[in-house]
Amino acid sequence: MKKVGNHKSIFKVVTLSLSLLLSVSFSSFAQDQAATAPVADAAAAPAAAGDAAAGKALFNANCAACHKLDAKMTGPALRGVAERRDRAWLGKWIRDSKGLIASGDADAVKIFEEFNKVAMTAFPQLSDADIDNILAYTSEPAPVPEKPATGSNSAEAGTGGGLSNNLILGLLAGILAVLVGMLFMVNNALGKISKANGIEVDSKTPSLMPLWRAFAKNQFLVLVSVILLMLTSAYFIYGYLMQVGVDKDYAPIQPIHYSHKIHAGDNGIDCKYCHSAARVSKNAGIPSLNVCMNCHKNISEFQGDKDSAYVEYTKEFYTAEIQKLYDAVGWDKNAQKYTGKTKPVKWVRIHNLQDFVYFNHSQHVSVAGVECQTCHGPVETFEIMKQHSPLTMGWCVNCHRETNVKVEGNAYYEKIHAELSKKYGVDKLTAAQMGGLECGKCHY
Ligand code: HEC
Ligand code: HEC
Ligand code: HEC
Ligand code: HEC
Ligand code: HEC
Ligand code: HEC
Repeated sequence: MKKVGNHKSIFKVVTLSLSLLLSVSFSSFAQDQAATAPVADAAAAPAAAGDAAAGKALFNANCAACHKLDAKMTGPALRGVAERRDRAWLGKWIRDSKGLIASGDADAVKIFEEFNKVAMTAFPQLSDADIDNILAYTSEPAPVPEKPATGSNSAEAGTGGGLSNNLILGLLAGILAVLVGMLFMVNNALGKISKANGIEVDSKTPSLMPLWRAFAKNQFLVLVSVILLMLTSAYFIYGYLMQVGVDKDYAPIQPIHYSHKIHAGDNGIDCKYCHSAARVSKNAGIPSLNVCMNCHKNISEFQGDKDSAYVEYTKEFYTAEIQKLYDAVGWDKNAQKYTGKTKPVKWVRIHNLQDFVYFNHSQHVSVAGVECQTCHGPVETFEIMKQHSPLTMGWCVNCHRETNVKVEGNAYYEKIHAELSKKYGVDKLTAAQMGGLECGKCHY
């Protein structure tokens, strides 16, 4: 207890070196960020007289359905159009392209013919300032990584964030290693100090043998503990066996990273738009890729905002996933037509009842009016689809016991309901009382 001063100085050395290491790692991280910031600024600098940021908003709201900056869509790619065409011509075209074509303007007729005489919407409501803003936006220089994204390209961009993460992780691991080393040194030093001061460190622990012997002699105690042990292990073994064949939370990797959170959640697409069969048949079905193409002919790039809560991966990652859809249906997004080369997507089936069970979606969705989410969970928040419910017999039967049958507006049920509710003496009937517990209803 004499040399307390030594402890303190060692402690000081440890904290000092730790804070030094931390500050070094943080400042290097800060440098990373500082280095990237100016590049982003330069890209955002407007190239023309109008306000490019306002123009971008206008473009996305009015033009993005048919135009992209760097690729052909329904209409031509618009980057640099202000350099190609006269400003007055552009004003006339955007406000009323039909009028301009009808007036026999050679350029207007030419581009109209080139695009198979697809009429562009007229925008008489846009002011001169609006058009200037849009043109400022289309005159911005193309950002470098925005070149037609090929698979490998976007994969590289995707790992960009991971690299700095790895750096931080590596640094942390380094700090930990240094700390462990220091602890050893401290321990050593303390040992030496105590030796020098003649203090004995007692490393022996008191023996447990006498306690064991006493226990073994008491037969009643032994019996009770053996029974307890058997009961608990039986409990756990039973629990384990009941898990066999229950695939709750099964979430396989799908061939295309399809996010229900983005489609059904953020974009509010109705479940039955894609799983339309759920209303009328036994199976809900997975939509064919033609259904996807109703929207994705026009949505070839992911635009989602990185900052919003529903976006979990990078834009490049999502755009590459949309490209997989194109590869599967054989859609050439630059030429805007089908190539005829298709390769079917093999979705991995997640929910799958045993063959001896009969389950019918339309019975539950249309007749009983049960929401998809009651059985499948908050699907609109799933980035990756998974099995939410256990799909065991107990699960089905419990719900049949608890859920009342919806009789309102269903003439078929009115008579049965009147009879059965008299029989059971209740005014609401559960699915179980309607026969939902009969083995033959669920088992062939
Ligand atoms: C309904 C689809 C559609 C919308 C919306 C649309 N365009 Fe177009 N645009 C076209 C088509 C198609 C053409 C090619 C000419 C044609 O067939 O009429 C075109 C051509 C153009 C051209 C001529 C390009 C060139 O190279 O000469 C400009 C400029 C243009 N659009 C600007 C706009 C702007 C700005 C907006 C938004 C305010 C917009 N367009 C909205 C379909 C559209
Ligand atoms: C834009 C189309 C689309 C919409 C909208 C949609 N889904 Fe899906 N759903 C799919 C596709 C594609 C799959 C297969 C890929 C997967 O499992 O992620 C799927 C898979 C599923 C599965 C798992 C199927 C299996 O293999 O067992 C369930 C359950 C499901 N969807 C429920 C819903 C519910 C509930 C909603 C509404 C909240 C919904 N879906 C909205 C396209 C859609
Ligand atoms: C009703 C329109 C619509 C339908 C149908 C649709 N999508 Fe989408 N899809 C969107 C929208 C909107 C986005 C988000 C675009 C954005 O935020 O920039 C998107 C984004 C995506 C993405 C990138 C994000 C993600 O989920 O990984 C993929 C991949 C995708 N869709 C695949 C599909 C597939 C496969 C189908 C068919 C089963 C399909 N989509 C059907 C509208 C649709
Ligand atoms: C009462 C519970 C329940 C409700 C409500 C329900 N499902 Fe299901 N769903 C299941 C069960 C159970 C399975 C497994 C069926 C099988 O393997 O035969 C399943 C399977 C699926 C599948 C994949 C296999 C198939 O049948 O094609 C999809 C997709 C699906 N459900 C979508 C939906 C959608 C969309 C809704 C809402 C319109 C919905 N489900 C409502 C219980 C339910
Ligand atoms: C969310 C609650 C719920 C779950 C979970 C559920 N069901 Fe049902 N089920 C109902 C309701 C409510 C009805 C009554 C529908 C009606 O009005 O006919 C019903 C009816 C049925 C019927 C028809 C019964 C009859 O009397 O004709 C069958 C068969 C059935 N369910 C099978 C299943 C199976 C198999 C499962 C499990 C895989 C299951 N259900 C899970 C709520 C549920
Ligand atoms: C509401 C629907 C429903 C009813 C009613 C029902 N079952 Fe089941 N049964 C299931 C489902 C779903 C499974 C498969 C899931 C599982 O293994 O738990 C199953 C599985 C079974 C199994 C296989 C063993 C096992 O646990 O995997 C047996 C045996 C069985 N049921 C017997 C019966 C008998 C007997 C009745 C009548 C008293 C009955 N079931 C009524 C839905 C039902």
